[in-house]
Amino acid sequence: MINGSTNVVGLIGHPVEHSFSPSMHNAAFKKLGLDYAYVPFNVFPDNLKSAILGAKALNIVGFNVTIPHKINVMKYLDKLDPIAKLIGAVNTIDFKEMKGYNTDGIGCIKAIEEVTSIKDKNVVVAGAGGASRAISFYLAKENPQSINILNRNVKKAELLVRDVKSSKLTDNINFDSIDKIASYVNDADILIDTTPVGMSPHINDESIVKSEDMHSDLVVNDIVYNPNETVLLNEAIKAGATPVYGIKMLLYQGAESFEIWTGKEAPVDVMEKTLRKTLNL
Ligand code: ATR
Repeated sequence: MINGSTNVVGLIGHPVEHSFSPSMHNAAFKKLGLDYAYVPFNVFPDNLKSAILGAKALNIVGFNVTIPHKINVMKYLDKLDPIAKLIGAVNTIDFKEMKGYNTDGIGCIKAIEEVTSIKDKNVVVAGAGGASRAISFYLAKENPQSINILNRNVKKAELLVRDVKSSKLTDNINFDSIDKIASYVNDADILIDTTPVGMSPHINDESIVKSEDMHSDLVVNDIVYNPNETVLLNEAIKAGATPVYGIKMLLYQGAESFEIWTGKEAPVDVMEKTLRKTLNL
């Protein structure tokens, strides 16, 4: 029930109407009996500055930030979490400190850590776009034995690797063409696909790796959550590998944001149940 002292958090993006975050967060607030409400705000790019200043003036507690504002919003904040600064994109704002965070990458790490640790593992990351960037800096923090970023546009992978190396988080990171993915996967413990291959409505895309090029000790994470079982995860299951579904990254990035705003441990079970219901899983 909204009342005179309800704390408001929300999502800014353009568009926002298909977001699963409102139902996930509102279910979590209800579960813990917290007097918070999560509201979506469709903010046109030209209105971003006034939206941030307005939100501060309205004593809004926090925002999630989505496309197309994740980069531009940084210039209106006073502080940035060190990793968000390295990534160069923010998906969470804490208005108490006017501070930006990036919980996307940590969401992926936590999803994988449900089934395996990352330390000392050989990790292959397919794709070198925004999602790959958020994930790669967090991966680097976990001290894997190797990170190989494979991309169609090899130059883009090279630039990302250069940035991660210059952060000094790790030196064990290299790039190559995605054409060579089969041989990299052969030596890998963990494969993370950050490309949109297989995303609805293109569910019948050709998988970036086939089951015959996977092995049963491999953990395969696809960050695409619609469909739940992408063509890549289907190949992983055929190979006897361990699938990590995209919904888990969505869940854990939300849980991290929740904890930043409320200071309370997120009720991930309720959040996951709500996400599954919203996604008809
Ligand atoms: P996001 O923010 O979701 O990461 P993005 O920044 O557009 O989105 O990045 C998409 C990534 O998926 C890129 O690495 C892209 O490769 P290129 O840099 O070569 O374009 C990759 N990608 C998109 N479609 C792909 C496909 N059909 N096969 C392989 N990689 C693909």
